[in-house]
Amino acid sequence: MPDSLPPARLLDELDKILGPRGLLTDAADIAPHLSDWRALYRGAAFAVARPASTEEVAAVVRLCAATGTPITPQGGNTSMVGGATPDGSGRHLVLSLARMNRIRALDALDMTMTAEAGVVLKTAQEKAAEAGALFPLSLGAEGTATIGGVLSTNAGGNTTVRYGNARELMLGLEAVLPDGSIWNGLRRLRKDNTGYALRHLLVGAEGTLGIVTAAVLRLFPRARDTALAFCAVRDEDAALALFRRFRDRDESAVRAFEYMSGTGVDFCVRHIEGVVLPLAERADHYVLVDLASSRPDAGLRAMAESVLAEALEAGEVLDAALPESEAQAQRIWRIREEHPEAQKREGASVKNDVSVPVSTVPEMIRRCCAALVELIPGSRPVPFGHIGDGNIHMNLEQPPGMDPAAFLARSHDIMDCVNAVVRDLGGSFSAEHGIGRLKTDMMADWRGGAELAAMQAIKAALDPRGIMNPGKVLP
Ligand code: FAD
Ligand code: MLT
Ligand code: ZN
Repeated sequence: MPDSLPPARLLDELDKILGPRGLLTDAADIAPHLSDWRALYRGAAFAVARPASTEEVAAVVRLCAATGTPITPQGGNTSMVGGATPDGSGRHLVLSLARMNRIRALDALDMTMTAEAGVVLKTAQEKAAEAGALFPLSLGAEGTATIGGVLSTNAGGNTTVRYGNARELMLGLEAVLPDGSIWNGLRRLRKDNTGYALRHLLVGAEGTLGIVTAAVLRLFPRARDTALAFCAVRDEDAALALFRRFRDRDESAVRAFEYMSGTGVDFCVRHIEGVVLPLAERADHYVLVDLASSRPDAGLRAMAESVLAEALEAGEVLDAALPESEAQAQRIWRIREEHPEAQKREGASVKNDVSVPVSTVPEMIRRCCAALVELIPGSRPVPFGHIGDGNIHMNLEQPPGMDPAAFLARSHDIMDCVNAVVRDLGGSFSAEHGIGRLKTDMMADWRGGAELAAMQAIKAALDPRGIMNPGKVLP
């Protein structure tokens, strides 16, 4: 194979590997794969490959490696950082894992599920539930995001506080490396110290080191007792104090602990059909506490009521609603889950997915809000998210009436403004969404020196021609 091919020859070769169902070349078919969920980027690609097996992925990657053709791997295309969007050159092949959507195995004794990369996260949750188990990873995009995508971004989400990030939920991996070789590491082992943990290198690599084709996922006992509370709290300190109260009472029961600002909840009530505030009065700060136990007699509702009574007495909680049915519980969760969509509908917004040590979250929120409003008068900070992990989405909504493009032109000033506070508190500029295309220019500043040099050496060793998701992660 020559080390480059004219586009028509390349398409012929791809067609031989994938057949007509596995290759999209029509502009209208390709279009949905060329922009991201946030509509920050629009790229170009000469085709979208949709392999149906690991062998087909390997054959495509071998062809691309031989011809120096850049590959943009894509799962559900819900990346918040433009990670799955090709650049504008038109030289990229988008490689979608959508057709690799089989659950290969599920073992209720090992408590593992072997799922292909294109399995949608919600389907994985449902398959686990059908087997009487739980796959706990949960996030707003779970109806679209895929196993390959959540592993490649090491997604966090709402249950990290209890179960860890995607990385902690993975035991084994199958992947196609940048030279087209297949690595079968689908081991179902709890213990496996056999040299460098390649699986952990690929998790969070955002498609820059290979294509994840399947994974062994950890399952957990399903919840047999649950309780949920939506609380208005006095301020950010009170939110954290409430987290501590629940954690001290029974850490293992805290499945999610989420913070929301009054502004974000107002947006949800305003823009999302069916979302109503379950409390008599609006507040500036809210918390959602979700408790779960595999013990049917855990008494979580009583525990929640008792902790909330203490917190009310202490003036931390102002009011709280505990749902009486599963339908009510789902309505309460929607207030939290619809935050990204509601912000979109309100206008242009800039996302800052940051983390700090948990104890410093209140200070971080207060300092960032003050600095942001000073930077862009009239803008509306919308801090919300996974306060139990120290991970807040310190997002900023445009001032009402401002030209959205003019506001977005300030994106980097806004991110710098938040990042200055985050750095001062010893935090991270990307907690769970990754680097993608959006934050590559921050890598040298935040991770420069030995850390970035090691990452670049790993990339060069595994992908010497730089075909795997170029322009992402590394500056
Ligand atoms: P894509 O967006 O398609 O890809 C993401 C990255 O992984 C890209 O770099 C892509 O090239 C690479 N990739 C995808 N599949 C593979 C593969 N098989 N092999 C190698 N590389 C691959 N993230 C969180 O962590 N927590 C949240 O709470 C959260 N909430 C969200 C809510 C909404 C409404 C949305 C839209 C997104 C949210 N995200 C969240 C961001 C996003 O990271 C996750 O949705 C998810 O991890 C991405 O999965 P995906 O299949 O859509 O991946
Ligand atoms: C979420 O937790 O809902 C997303 O990760 C955050 C966002 O949209 O900024
Ligand atoms: Zn999040």
